[in-house]
Amino acid sequence: MSSTVRVHLKGVVDNSYDIVIGTSLRQALRDIANDFRDASKFIITDSNVKSHYGGIFNNKLFRILTVPAGERSKDRKTKEYLEDRLLSLRADRNSLIIALGGGVIGDLAGFVAATFMRGIPYIQIPTTLLAQVDSSIGGKVAINHPLGKNLIGAFYQPKKVYIDTGTLKTLPEKEFPNGMAEVIKYGAILDIQLFNFLEKNHKQILKRDRSSLTRIIKRCCQLKKMIVHQDERETGLRRILNFGHTVGHAIEALSNYRIGHGEAIAMGMVAEAKLSYALGMINYDDITRLSRLLQAYGLPITIPSRFTLKQLLRATLHDKKIKQGTVQYTLLEKIGKAKVGVQLTLKEVEQHLNR
Ligand code: NAD
Ligand code: GLY
Repeated sequence: MSSTVRVHLKGVVDNSYDIVIGTSLRQALRDIANDFRDASKFIITDSNVKSHYGGIFNNKLFRILTVPAGERSKDRKTKEYLEDRLLSLRADRNSLIIALGGGVIGDLAGFVAATFMRGIPYIQIPTTLLAQVDSSIGGKVAINHPLGKNLIGAFYQPKKVYIDTGTLKTLPEKEFPNGMAEVIKYGAILDIQLFNFLEKNHKQILKRDRSSLTRIIKRCCQLKKMIVHQDERETGLRRILNFGHTVGHAIEALSNYRIGHGEAIAMGMVAEAKLSYALGMINYDDITRLSRLLQAYGLPITIPSRFTLKQLLRATLHDKKIKQGTVQYTLLEKIGKAKVGVQLTLKEVEQHLNR
């Protein structure tokens, strides 16, 4: 049976929407066909997801636009390609985009939807753990620039999010820890009980036990909704979700996106936990506990030595959170609690991380 988490976003316009957890992909597509009967509907997906799930699309109801799988598709060229395809297929202001895939597809298709004809509706159907717990919720959509991640984007909320946890069965082995990094992040910054649960049940979770996964996904959706509800446009509190991401994004960019997002933020979280420790905010035990949990889920905790600290810190300057020469970090106060907006110069970070 499915359950629903509602994201309330009532500003000048009502951007609230439901996250339906535990539905099936087929049912989601049926619901969409019903709810958007008169709209032309375009599924944007990637080559891998299409090879697993392409068989269930009704090609009379949905047009499928496929891009190559991988982070490299989150670029201007692919956005242009999709826009050209939409125009040639006569998409209009009433058309609907459905982002079916991981975070790359969600961010890319969402950004296409945000700007196509000044904005058309879109729906997220996330198929990776990372996308189900994080990227499909909250309306951050973007593409990358050669200078850094997500530098070109928008806040643009989906009309609905459908989560079929069954799609995680086909997720490649290395993609699972990628998503677990974001799950662990939620525990580390907001929810000690979630953190404890992840520690106690790692064997079951790693076996992708459906009920544990559903429980985790639902909790993460609730936590993300709570944050987005209070700070949709990341003026303050939402930065809490960036724990591990300042250093993590720098690692991703330096590796030319060969290191996956989750792996990079796992290393980033440990580096930023060390920064929290150096500033007297947490105990050394907290770093150990965080590192152990990340490792239990197969995540790396040490930044490859081929990236020097100087290179890494220089790369953090392309982060969107930079302000008057200082980089804004989200740091830990303890497991389950974090502090946003800790401003540090490159020199300070270098000194602290060099110890
Ligand atoms: P991804 O979208 O590249 O998916 C990972 C791989 O899994 C791909 O090869 C994909 O083809 C494949 N795949 C997806 N679903 C599958 C399935 N069910 N079965 C088999 N294969 C499947 O990567 P990701 O980790 O989901 O997302 C990473 C992206 O998300 C990054 O670009 C990151 O910046 C972004 N992100 C965005 C937000 C946000 O709030 N918008 C938050 C976190 C991350
Ligand atoms: N993933 C960070 C955010 O949505 O704000």
